[in-house]
Amino acid sequence: MTAGRMMRLGMSLRGLGYHIAAWRHPQVPADGTLRFDHYLRNARAAERGLFDMIFFADGIGIREKDEPRGSLARSGYEIVELEPMTLLPALAALTRNIGLVTTASTTYNEPYHVARKFATLDIISDGRAGWNIVTSWSEAEARNFNRDSHLDYDMRYGRAAEFVEVVTGLWDSWEADAFPYDKAGGLFYDERRMHVLDHQGRHFKVRGPLNVAAMPQGRPILVQAGASEQGREIAAATADVVYAAQDSMQAAQAYYADLKGRMARYGRDPDHLKILPGVRTVVGRTRAEAQAKFDELQSLVDPLVGLARVFNALGDLSGHDVDGPVPEPVIEPQMRSSVERILARARRDNLTIRQLYTQLTAGGFILIGTAADIVDVLQEWFEAGACDGFNVLPTHLPVACEDFVEHITPELQRRGLFRTAYEGRTLRENLGLPPHVNRHTAARRAVE
Ligand SMILES: Cc1cc2nc3c(=O)[nH]c(=O)nc-3n(C[C@H](O)[C@H](O)[C@H](O)COP(=O)(O)O)c2cc1C
Repeated sequence: MTAGRMMRLGMSLRGLGYHIAAWRHPQVPADGTLRFDHYLRNARAAERGLFDMIFFADGIGIREKDEPRGSLARSGYEIVELEPMTLLPALAALTRNIGLVTTASTTYNEPYHVARKFATLDIISDGRAGWNIVTSWSEAEARNFNRDSHLDYDMRYGRAAEFVEVVTGLWDSWEADAFPYDKAGGLFYDERRMHVLDHQGRHFKVRGPLNVAAMPQGRPILVQAGASEQGREIAAATADVVYAAQDSMQAAQAYYADLKGRMARYGRDPDHLKILPGVRTVVGRTRAEAQAKFDELQSLVDPLVGLARVFNALGDLSGHDVDGPVPEPVIEPQMRSSVERILARARRDNLTIRQLYTQLTAGGFILIGTAADIVDVLQEWFEAGACDGFNVLPTHLPVACEDFVEHITPELQRRGLFRTAYEGRTLRENLGLPPHVNRHTAARRAVE
């Protein structure tokens, strides 16, 4: 009997969780983001739950602004945290099967650094590395990297596309049989199997070859998380996984069809890209218990922190009546896709500013109920062509991660929607993706 199509699951472990008031919850260690044992406990729970990967979103600086004044010191959200590229090799040594995916910015890195670090992580983890490609969007990050303002949109995306081209080129520097390690003959590597990239483009000049080789996955998994036109094009061309952000099934279906539809132009099989929308889950043994858990979190939100929540997307709304309608954004939308999504929702539901920030505090796509209730919706999305699985955004850690594994994973398994054991050794195998074939090996085979 062949197994049906299986859901792919990521567990997003950034910070203390995705609820804005997570740090104030009694079962959350407020100092957890600076403690290795916090990350390890959650990574192990996700691995117990057979998740494909843990996933780290990241920013290179404190991106939230202190607006209204005093809100930042009360927020506890994305303030201090361990640097994921340093954290993941430590987690790799203490886990066995779970994929290790983190974000690295194409705006504030050099391709050679990124290629080398992720190649190293792939080797340390025995084939579990993944790179979440982001372009970064905040002024705060720009100011940490010799700039006063961030690069404009087209420039960032031009750089991102070329950056990915260079990194993937560097990863193919060495073919699988490049190292005879022939002690008797005195030959360390085979010159014919080493390839100098010699890239010269608009943004980068990189000679290569990469001084790391023999990655267990051939190359790390590529994850992409932009939703705009240019973001979609990069994803269709190169991504193995897309972290999506639609909060209605119809929007997710449209996005899914659009993205998969673009792949043919790049000669890619639509099944070789896994689209995972983010989802928050609050599970209880009864609906009342789940709702009580959620209400407890919401009751912990500081009003100042609530207003700060809409600042990045819509600008400073402190001059407006919070019980009035949401105005057109007064700032240039830097995070286009998110801003459009937020505005569409405010218009659709006729929300006041207060109602909008209260809803946004809860998170976009959030499911509150019993395991059966939650899996009903996950299954509906999965079977209706809206996704290939989900990136779980736990509200507060470790509670929501462990709750998912204890209650929701078994329900998914009972319905035959999720694995009961890891199928493969590498993240690529577990995701059901084809092996990576080095471009030079492929070219050689084509003429042989
Ligand atoms: C679901 C999702 C997750 C993202 N995660 C990150 C992140 O972890 N770090 C980051 O700097 N940017 C992140 N971004 C921002 C994107 O890299 C990109 O800069 C932004 O979305 C603007 O591009 P777009 O208009 O193509 O969406 C994320 C975007 C989305 C939609």
